[in-house]
Amino acid sequence: MKFFVDTADVAAISELNDLGMVDGVTTNPSIILKSGRDILEVTKEICSIVSGPVSAEVVAMKSDEMIAEGRKLAAIAPNIAVKVPLTWDGLKTCKVLSSEGFMVNVTLCFSVNQALLAAKAGATFISPFIGRLDDINLDGLDLIADIRTLYDNYDFNTQILAASVRTVNHAKDCALIGADVMTAPPGVIKQMANHILTDKGLEQFMADWAKTGQKIL
Ligand code: E4P
Repeated sequence: MKFFVDTADVAAISELNDLGMVDGVTTNPSIILKSGRDILEVTKEICSIVSGPVSAEVVAMKSDEMIAEGRKLAAIAPNIAVKVPLTWDGLKTCKVLSSEGFMVNVTLCFSVNQALLAAKAGATFISPFIGRLDDINLDGLDLIADIRTLYDNYDFNTQILAASVRTVNHAKDCALIGADVMTAPPGVIKQMANHILTDKGLEQFMADWAKTGQKIL
């Protein structure tokens, strides 16, 4: 499973990228707001660090304007994936931009039918939001599994980009279900390294090592 980082925090992206943990980046208007930076400037900087797809989201509601915004965002760098909402206008935009050879990430997906339409419109990525479904007492992981079945049934090439990943269990379950990609905040990716027994075992090893009186360096 590929890891995209769900942030516009350049320092956090660089740190994970240096470890080989970054296959791409996702942003959205809320993430740009949080960064406090200009969308074109910060996206360009991210694209200079990361070679994989970097999602930048359009903000228009009508397809004509979305297409124009998408072309402008795509001109930032060859690895831009234009992010469009799963609305009828977003699907029209997806069809046009994907036909022009741009990567398109269709976001705000909450149903299998929406994922089906996005695949038919030529989406490179579909972004089903796990955490936001969990927030309303539905099961976001069920949606990932259902879309996996759907896309496999019909050999769609659209990649499942599990989004709104909030916990390490979300990450693990996405991998087991067979999501192509997950996007998660840097903190969730770093938490995946943690285990209570690792901490406990290390504490014991360090205590015993101190008793040997030895040094390696
Ligand atoms: C990524 O593409 C999404 O915008 C993001 O994962 C949403 O996450 P959230 O529901 O935690 O805001």
